[in-house]
Formats: sequence, structure tokens, C-alpha cells
Amino acid sequence: MQGFTNKEINFDILKERAFNMRWAEVEDGVIPLTAADHDFPIAPEIVNALTDYIKDGYFPYVPNRGMKEFKLAFAKYVKERKNEEINPEWVLPIDSAASGMAVIARAFLKPGDEVIVFDPVDFLFRTSMEAAGAKTVLFPTNLQEDGISLSGLEDYITPSTKMIGFCNPHNPMGMLYKKEELDYLLSLSEKYGFYIMNDEIWSDIVYPGNRFNSLIEFGPERNKRTISVYGFSKSFGIAGLRIGTIYCMNQETYDAVVAASMVDTTIGGVNLLSQVAGIAAMEKATYRLDAFLEQIAENQQYALERIEKMPLIHCHKSQATFVIFPDVTETGMDPVDLVNLLRDKYKVSIVPGGARFFGPGSAGHVRICLATSHEILKEGLNRIEKCMRDLSNS
Ligand SMILES: Cc1ncc(COP(=O)(O)O)c(C=O)c1O
Repeated sequence: MQGFTNKEINFDILKERAFNMRWAEVEDGVIPLTAADHDFPIAPEIVNALTDYIKDGYFPYVPNRGMKEFKLAFAKYVKERKNEEINPEWVLPIDSAASGMAVIARAFLKPGDEVIVFDPVDFLFRTSMEAAGAKTVLFPTNLQEDGISLSGLEDYITPSTKMIGFCNPHNPMGMLYKKEELDYLLSLSEKYGFYIMNDEIWSDIVYPGNRFNSLIEFGPERNKRTISVYGFSKSFGIAGLRIGTIYCMNQETYDAVVAASMVDTTIGGVNLLSQVAGIAAMEKATYRLDAFLEQIAENQQYALERIEKMPLIHCHKSQATFVIFPDVTETGMDPVDLVNLLRDKYKVSIVPGGARFFGPGSAGHVRICLATSHEILKEGLNRIEKCMRDLSNS
């Protein structure tokens, strides 16, 4: 697709700068379809906003709890794009969604509290909550063709359950939740009094024909204990700027989050340039996000078609996110061994399922990132196919 081909990608720069299992960390010749990050340059409007700000030569302290323009832009952005009604007063810019998760966990958990984490789900839920001293109870993610079902969740709740980690849309399954499921989750939070760490970082990345439903749409009364987090890495490709947002539904939870973040002491706080980039992204770069979504939709369709024709690997049709999560149990291999084989012999790097990244329930799967050009994805899939054919013939 125009704007998203190899012509636009500067591989020399990626080789120098793109870490976290990506181009700068793989051997020459290996294609990384690993960490969920973009291969494309960001929207020029974000670059211009940064250079305009930099050229004045002033980098003073900005408000501890974040720039007013950022908070207003965020409230407007989520209202317009996702019908989420939030109060800008209760928005806290934070240095990444990952950091936001850690702050939320610190704000509401104490050692010995129980938390429910889906299995599989991104490792950050478990990591952030365990860092706060909590004890994790795993809830098996119930994948259905039309979304993730929360049926049976109540059985996992005990009097010690203090928080549930909720990834909507779900990474790595790439799935959404129906409104009934969200209603059910909120009714459990109301009944048992646990907090919900509501991670909506993937909420912009939804495939045509699907709709992202947010817990926030149920209003502040029902979301008294919902604390949400969003990040700019997935939608706008600025992971290295470490910018995200925590948004609360009342003063009480906001105060707790602010205290845990330590922004008022200046120990915590977000780089002002990252806030400038975030504002430009929300106000000026949504056209680029929409074009990126078209590229991703094409990539997803192509990848699923290709995988369908390969032996030993199967993939469900995802509804959201730019990762896919195929089942490779038929290879008979441990995903870590399979991923090592793919990297060392077939020169394509992907993320293994298993306890380390997504939880024990993800054993038998691998995750493939689609945020690249058609050319790169095609070559990566050619290599995966070669491996699968060799394995099936051996
Ligand atoms: C579900 C989820 N939450 C949080 C993050 C972290 O995002 P950030 O780059 O803003 O720290 C990721 C990144 O992959 C993610 O998938």
C-alpha cells in the first residue's frame, strides 16, 4: 500500500535504533516479526511538532501532573474515536503504558493481595502486579470465534481478589469483548469490590467489520474502580518516546494514582517532548493511523491466507491488534525451540508462546507482528512456510 512499502522504510536506521528483539538485535539477514512496533516512520506532523518545540531552545519544568493541552487533547481523542466520555482533570500522562500499569498496581495493591490475570495475556499484567507484591491467579482466556468470553470468571474470585487485569483488545489473541461481557465484568467488580486495570492500548487497532467496546462507555457510576491505561506505541509508532496515559473515573482513584506515580515530587513525570509528540499524534496524525490500519488489515488477510495453506500451523481470525497468534502444537515442538530454529536456520524471528511472555496457557503458540510492509511480511512468511514444510516432511 502507498506510504507503507519498503521504499518508505529506512532499514539502516532500524538496524541502528530498533531494539526489543527487533532489527538492531537480530543478526544481519534475519527478519524480525517480533515486538509489536512499527517498521514505518511516524507521521511528519509529529516530527514537525517536535522540531518546532525544540528550536526555541527552552525545556523548563512543565506541570507535574501533565500539560493541560495533553489532557484536553486526550479527552477529545477518546470521545471522538471511541465514544469514551472522560474528564480531562482525571487524565495523567505517564511515561509509557507499561509504566502506567506499574503505577496502577502500586496505587491499589499491597503484598499478599490476590489479582486475576488472564492466561494468556501480555506479561506486563503479571509483572506489574507482582512487582506490587500481589499473588497472581490465572484465568484461562476463553477464545471464541466472535470474541473472548468471560464465562466462569466469577469462580476465580475470592475475598482476597483486589484487582483484575483486563486487556481490551486482547494481546496476543487479537480479540475483542462484546458489550455483554463488559457488563458482566463491571457487575462482578460492583459485587466484589475489586479494581480493574483496564488496558486499552490496542483500542485503535481494530479490523473492518468489528467494533471496540470500552468499559468506559458504561459511565462513571459503573466504573468506580476502573483505572484505564492507553499508550501511543501501537497507534502512532512512538514507543521510544515512552508516552502513555492513565485515566480515572473519579477523584478518589485519580488521587491514588497520582500519589503512586510520585509526579508531584518530580521523581516521576513525563518528558515534555513526549507530551508534545502525543498531542500532535492525537490532533494531527489520525489520518496516518487510518492509513496504517488499512495496511494492517491487508497484512492480516494476507498472513491468514498464507498460514491456512501451510502444514502444522493454524490461526484463528483476529478482530483487532496487529499481532496474530497461531497454534503450532502440531509441530510437536516447544515454541521456544521452534522460534530458535526459525531464527537460526530460516532467518525469521517471532515471539514464542509459553510462560515468559504470555503465560503458561500460551504454550503451543507463537506470535507474529504484522506492522511492516507487504514485502517484508511476505518474505517472513515464505521463511516460516519453508520451515513448516521441512518439519512436516521430516
Ligand atoms: C497490552 C499491552 N499493554 C502495554 C504495552 C506497553 O506499551 P508501552 O510501549 O506504551 O509501554 C503493550 C506493548 O506491547 C501491550 O501489548
